[in-house]
Amino acid sequence: MFILCFVPHILFEAPCTGCQCCASGTDCITTNGVVQCLDPCDTYTVLNDTWRSTENTDYSISHCDWYIAWSGWYRFYLGQTSAQIPEKCVAEQRCGTQAPLWINGTHPVQLNEIITRTVCYTWWGTCCLSTSNTIQIKLCYGYYVYKVQRPIGCDLAYCAGTVVIIFKKFRIILVKTP
Ligand SMILES: *[C@@H]1O[C@H](CO)[C@@H](O)[C@H](O)[C@H]1NC(C)=O
Ligand SMILES: *[C@@H]1O[C@H](CO)[C@@H](O)[C@H](O)[C@H]1NC(C)=O
Repeated sequence: MFILCFVPHILFEAPCTGCQCCASGTDCITTNGVVQCLDPCDTYTVLNDTWRSTENTDYSISHCDWYIAWSGWYRFYLGQTSAQIPEKCVAEQRCGTQAPLWINGTHPVQLNEIITRTVCYTWWGTCCLSTSNTIQIKLCYGYYVYKVQRPIGCDLAYCAGTVVIIFKKFRIILVKTP
């Protein structure tokens, strides 16, 4: 008995132009008005607000990331050191805001892989009172970059904590990266 395998996508494959088919690990990024597939490990905006620290308990000025016109990829810093969005619950009224944003899930463990995670916020004594939005994350050499999305409201702001990079079998705690 013969089974006829019909593969229609081969017949109707669209030509690959612009950002329609960025290579794995790259993303469609606009720089100086030019839209192209680029590696977000090389093309990112620095986000180095000290108030984002998970250690910051001063929320007298409560920041809200809803007001920011997020665009493209971001690398977090605390001082001169790369930082990351925490993977664990952050208590409310930390990170210079009322409801801190953190990632419900783990960071990527493979270079060149871009993964999507859900962002939670802490409020009313509840770790993940609700999810806010999704975020894409890429592991680079010694740091992460994030395609930061606007959170669902105020006062919600992304936290910055210590970078812990877990490659497949090793756990490397980076004290300082350039
Ligand atoms: C953040 O980075 C900018 C540009 O490099 C620098 O001028 C500024 O002092 C930095 N701020 C902090 C708090 O590190
Ligand atoms: C993460 O999100 C899922 C739903 O998206 C939820 O069921 C789970 O409780 C969340 N994890 C934490 C630690 O809150």
